[in-house]
Amino acid sequence: MMRKKIVAGNWKMNLSKDEALTLLKELQANFPSQNQCEIILCPPSIYTELALQNANSFNIGLQNVSDKENGAFTGEISASMIQSMNVEYCIVGHSERRQYFGDTDTIINSKLKQLLKHNITPILCCGELLEEREAGRQNEVVQNQIEKAIVGLSNAEIEKLVIAYEPVWAIGTGKTASTHQAQEMHAFIRSILNSKIGDASNKISILYGGSCKPENAKELFDSPDIDGGLIGGAALNANSFLQIAQSF
Ligand code: PGA
Repeated sequence: MMRKKIVAGNWKMNLSKDEALTLLKELQANFPSQNQCEIILCPPSIYTELALQNANSFNIGLQNVSDKENGAFTGEISASMIQSMNVEYCIVGHSERRQYFGDTDTIINSKLKQLLKHNITPILCCGELLEEREAGRQNEVVQNQIEKAIVGLSNAEIEKLVIAYEPVWAIGTGKTASTHQAQEMHAFIRSILNSKIGDASNKISILYGGSCKPENAKELFDSPDIDGGLIGGAALNANSFLQIAQSF
């Protein structure tokens, strides 16, 4: 079955306005004419408008969303605000949010529900810590993260998700999961989804993240269950990012 191929760049908390603008312009000027995939940019939310205006060939996503509706929640950004900006994607449950900002499985579940309610496609991140992999617990950890994230979602809602498998030990470390390790986990994630929604699980794009770069993207993306990548460091360079996006 043909699934959507996706490459998404997660800029994290990087770049000044001028640097962001330079990168956006460079990306736009070099947008691949024959790209095989959907290419998403997730700049810091303060640059959303800048991205929409200067990189309009790309899809735009946010890096996080509030689990609450609108109201007295200082500093937060709601799903309805994201929707009102015509932004189509939002990352949820990134390991840095889980580690440093208290995003629990329950909060992630609420965030997913907010996004789905407002027609924004969530890019749901999951992935084990190094010690969990060393203990052979990676499948259990990832299964638990996914099952808790999708509690209360309908089958039709689950079908709308994009999943990103990002082993925490591979994020920003230069240490990529081997193609074999990644493919094995992606197939496992698909089997979890299959047990919930059956064959429709074959429509869900599952991205790999963690030190993905031009040198390893093609081999990873050639694997049957790896449908693209969530790119951190290499997304801050137009050339590397676009090379990755053309690795199918
Ligand atoms: P990295 O980050 O590509 O810098 O390892 C990936 C991510 O955290 O999404």
